[in-house]
Parts: sequence; C-alpha cells; structure tokens
Amino acid sequence: MLQKQLTLMNIDTREQWEEWAQYRNTIGEVIKKCIERYGVNNGNLLLLGVGNGNDIPVELLESKFNNITIVDLDDGALERFLARVSDKKKFNKVIIDLSGISNQIKNAKELLNRATSIQPVIDLSKLDKTYDLVVNCCFSTQLLTSHFYGTNEFQTQSLSPKVGQKLNELSNRIHSSLFSGLKSKLVSNGVIIHMTDTFELKHNKITGEYSPAMLPVSKIIKGDWRNIHLVLNHLQQLSRDGLYILGSALPPELNDMFATRTLFSLLWEFLHDDEEDRNYIVIVYVFQNQ
Ligand SMILES: C[S@@+](CC[C@H](N)C(=O)[O-])C[C@H]1O[C@@H](n2cnc3c(N)ncnc32)[C@H](O)[C@@H]1O
Repeated sequence: MLQKQLTLMNIDTREQWEEWAQYRNTIGEVIKKCIERYGVNNGNLLLLGVGNGNDIPVELLESKFNNITIVDLDDGALERFLARVSDKKKFNKVIIDLSGISNQIKNAKELLNRATSIQPVIDLSKLDKTYDLVVNCCFSTQLLTSHFYGTNEFQTQSLSPKVGQKLNELSNRIHSSLFSGLKSKLVSNGVIIHMTDTFELKHNKITGEYSPAMLPVSKIIKGDWRNIHLVLNHLQQLSRDGLYILGSALPPELNDMFATRTLFSLLWEFLHDDEEDRNYIVIVYVFQNQ
C-alpha cells in the first residue's frame, strides 16, 4: 500500500530537475564543505530516500566517490534517477523500508490507532559495506505522512495536537532505530548529512491563506531569504510553537550516538503555480561517528 503512495508522490515531482537546480546546487555546496571539513574519504557513499533524485547533485557525487548505494522504497523512481547518472557501474540500488513499519500497518487509520504501540523493525542487512558518508535526502517527513497521501486525512495540519504528538513520538522511535543501525554501517570517522524539510511556507493564492510557519519565519529572516541562516537561532522556539512539519524533529539521543558538527538551513523552492507558492526550509544536521 505504502509503495503505491510513494510512487504517486514521486511521479508528482519527477519533472522538477530544472526547477530545483538552484536547491540541488546548494546541496552540492553543503556536501563539498562537509567532505573537506570533516575529512570524508572517497570510498563508499550511501544515499537514503533518493527517489527521482532531482535534489541530488549527481555529477559531483560521482566525481567524489568510488561506489554509491542508493536506497528508496520506490523502485521506479530509483530507475529514473539511474537514467541520469554517467557511470552506472558505480551504483547499487537497494529497496528498503526506512520506517520499519510499513509491513506492519495497512492504512492511515491503522497507523493512527496503533501509533503508540508500534515498534519499527528496520532491516539494513542489504547494506553490505561500511560507508564514509551517508546522505539522508529529505525522507523523514514522508515516513509517516505518506500513509495519509490520497486519503481524507492527508491534511496532517488538521490532526489534533494529541495525535500529532503520538506520531512525533513514533517518528522519534523510527529515527533512533534507523540512526543506531546506520552507526554500525559507518566507518569510524564517518559522517551523516541528514537533510529534512522542517518548515512549510505556503501561500494559497486563491484563498489568500498562509501556512502557520510563514509569519514567524518571515519575521526571523526580516523578509529576506539571504537571512535564512537566522532560523537556526530560533529552532527551539519554533519547535515549542508546534511549527515543525510532522516527523522533522530528531530524537535527543542522537547526541549520545554522534558528535553534531554543524547545522545549515536551505531554501527549497518547491512549487510555484497559479494556485500556490510553496517553499520549504530544509535543516541540514551534520553528524560524525565517534
Ligand atoms: C523528498 S523525496 C526524494 C526526492 C524527490 N522525490 C524527487 O523527486 O527528487 C523523499 C523520498 O523518500 C522516500 N521514502 C519515503 N518513505 C520511505 C520509506 N518508508 N522507505 C524508503 N523510502 C521512503 C520516497 O519514496 C521519496 O523518494
């Protein structure tokens, strides 16, 4: 069931290669900085939640790494990505459920009913290398919300705060389990670049409505995207105010597993059409194995 929803979501965004060029370049700059600053070797790269890869600076990555493993649950989207690479021999495609729950629930209703009790079982056994760098490609907020795609409950902002909290706790359990599995696949000084869309800034041109994060974020950046880094000083407050996208927060225990090296904030100009303008602020967490 989930695979079908992810397939539809990736079909929606498959033509975005040109539109997301600037965002993709910014991600390339972040990856280059991390490779240089934290001494990442050019051996094995693991990319998680690649999808169509429209946000992945593939040319740069092929030039920097000898071997690249790509993971997603949507095989068709990974094939579209592979059609874009120069040297296919460098790539291994692996299908994994990164949430560890999709085999345990049938639909969104069951997810809501069992959110408190369900325990993720994430099977990373198909990842048979140790990796120098892992890049998480904005899959976090999809792990739970994709179950609502195409259902009446898809408007996750209309979930009650209590239900939202239950789902965020489940998301924390998933991320703890996933990061602990990833730690065992990293070389000793290996790095994880975890990117996650964290704030949705949406303007509905028909109704005139703005998403809740729009006004507070605009104030912080003083209405100028060049100040987007200022958001990093206000993350705790924005989280307390319930403005994070569901599933985008990370559990505090990651601080015991890794050294947090730095954070970046990026603008993802996601969609601009006659009906809406939709941007995301993506927070990038850089962790190093220790
Ligand atoms: C932001 S998208 C990636 C890029 C984007 N779709 C594009 O078109 O370039 C996040 C990806 O996470 C994948 N994903 C979501 N839930 C997943 C899960 N439980 N297991 C594995 N991959 C998942 C989706 O299939 C999607 O490709």
